[in-house]
Amino acid sequence: MPPSLIHRVWASQVAAEYTSAGITAGLLHQLILIGAPDPLVRVAHRVVTDELDHALLCHETLLAYGGADQPVEVVPLLPTATELGQLLPEVVATVVRTFCFGETIAVPLFAAMRKDASGPALKALDRIVLDEAVHSKLGWDALDWLLDGFGDPIGTLVAAHLAEIIEGFEAIYGRRTIEALDAGDRAAGLLPASQYRQVLRATVQRTILPRLASRGISTDAALAAMPLPPA
Ligand SMILES: [Fe+2]
Ligand SMILES: [Fe+2]
Repeated sequence: MPPSLIHRVWASQVAAEYTSAGITAGLLHQLILIGAPDPLVRVAHRVVTDELDHALLCHETLLAYGGADQPVEVVPLLPTATELGQLLPEVVATVVRTFCFGETIAVPLFAAMRKDASGPALKALDRIVLDEAVHSKLGWDALDWLLDGFGDPIGTLVAAHLAEIIEGFEAIYGRRTIEALDAGDRAAGLLPASQYRQVLRATVQRTILPRLASRGISTDAALAAMPLPPA
């Protein structure tokens, strides 16, 4: 029997949580290498643990809905550079893409998934929703430290990434097609494709781009990459 929609959604969430744990472990290593302050490094360490907890919770949720206990595919990480000149652009890219965008979008997204959830999905989403605000804050705190310590080139680097980052999120969310969900799907935390895109665009336009602009970072390229107003 092919896996149900609920099984596919929760299996992909297990993979996403392990991927987040791996990316954050890589960032933790890089923050140590570039001499980031202890509180930032400690929060990054906490986020690795949170993401491993989320992966286990999502796996338990998958099994609770009768999903198969199978290995998930996790995106491999690139090797870490060792020179500061190479490390900094990597750290900036991860901080902005994964934390200032990914984790900041995750805050309203998981809240929306939680809204109509019950049972095993609600248990997992209760914990995930609590953690995502901390994960998002790590991104903005790390960005502020990078801007303070390394100056204008960081803002220029961030601005240069924005269009590519937004196109990447649009492509990922654009692959979602399922609109028709029944009450059981909503109770299992599933959202229609249009709601993913609505949350993405609203969060980028109302939260992420204003925060970047308030730090003196040009968002012109980002606005050009996302011309549609939120639905
Ligand atoms: Fe997570
Ligand atoms: Fe997270």
